[in-house]
Amino acid sequence: MESVTILAIETSCDETAAAVVRNGREVLSNVIYSQIDLHTLYGGVVPEIASRKHIEKINRVMEQALKEADRELSDLDAVAVTYGPGLVGPLLVGVSAAKAVSFASGLPLIGVHHIEGHISANYIEHKDLEPPFVCLIASGGHSHLVVVRDYGKYEVLGRTRDDAAGEAFDKVARAIGLGYPGGPKIDKVAKEGNPDAIAFPRAKVGDSDYDFSFSGLKSAVLNYLNSCEMKGIPICRADVAASFQKAVVDVLTEHSMAAVERCGLRKFAIAGGVASNSALRQALEKACEEREIAFYRPTPLLCTDNAAMIGAAAYYEYVQGVRHGLDLNAVPGLKLGE
Ligand code: KG4
Ligand code: ZN
Repeated sequence: MESVTILAIETSCDETAAAVVRNGREVLSNVIYSQIDLHTLYGGVVPEIASRKHIEKINRVMEQALKEADRELSDLDAVAVTYGPGLVGPLLVGVSAAKAVSFASGLPLIGVHHIEGHISANYIEHKDLEPPFVCLIASGGHSHLVVVRDYGKYEVLGRTRDDAAGEAFDKVARAIGLGYPGGPKIDKVAKEGNPDAIAFPRAKVGDSDYDFSFSGLKSAVLNYLNSCEMKGIPICRADVAASFQKAVVDVLTEHSMAAVERCGLRKFAIAGGVASNSALRQALEKACEEREIAFYRPTPLLCTDNAAMIGAAAYYEYVQGVRHGLDLNAVPGLKLGE
């Protein structure tokens, strides 16, 4: 197939993003307007504020993506957009923008699954990566272990039973006064702490080797903080951060390696905001090296929400003939594989 260039849009949470991607792997532009500063004031993402900000920014962000890529709409082959899962208001802004572009320009419209986007960030970073492989997706809203059988074909091995890994990072960060977003802040503070200072639990989910549960760990951290306060023992934030982070990293690493070994696949990738965590990257790199498994990870900027990853996923949808109509709607609870 000749060259395929796609304008991709991502607005599922608090990043207003647009990118132009060629043949799924070559990023011509990747514009991200982060609303983080705005939501920091409230200690988390406020959906209504996010929606309003997306509306304000989306046109400018799309225009800038086209300009940086030195492309006009008439040079493109399709427009792609995240239509779920995510926050309904924010998703609707991106979906409406993509539909407007599609209607006005006649370009075909492709709806993309947000998690498929995260997984596909690996195709941008690693030009040689092809399915099948095992992928751990850990973000603010999702923790999944999947086998990527083929482009667009996923088998979910495990998922979180309660909080997502990123959610646990955010909640613990808030409890120790680090503020929002918690993941990067814990990552940084943990570097000064002792990961073995406090024995937090490594939650097992009874009947599954692959499912995760992080709410027990979060409660254990909160209980520890409360009991220190009651006993008048000073809290070392760095030790709490490092010990909590180690507990998350241990569980994610153990489950991932169990999945890789049992699937008999020699390729393992990570994706999602938590995949930018330095301790997790180190632990997985070491675990893969010991087992002689090829380890793939996107650069941190492609781990957190962006539209380039949506453009990568959209390319494989495009070549498989996927097209959506102008009745495409936001689906906040969209499951992988639907
Ligand atoms: O993938 P993402 O940008 O958005 C979702 O789809 O949810 O992930 C955001 C999540 C947040 O919970 C954030 O705290 C976490 O990823 N995160 C991190 C790091 N950077 C972002 N968690 C741990 N360590 C990091 N360095
Ligand atoms: Zn995401």
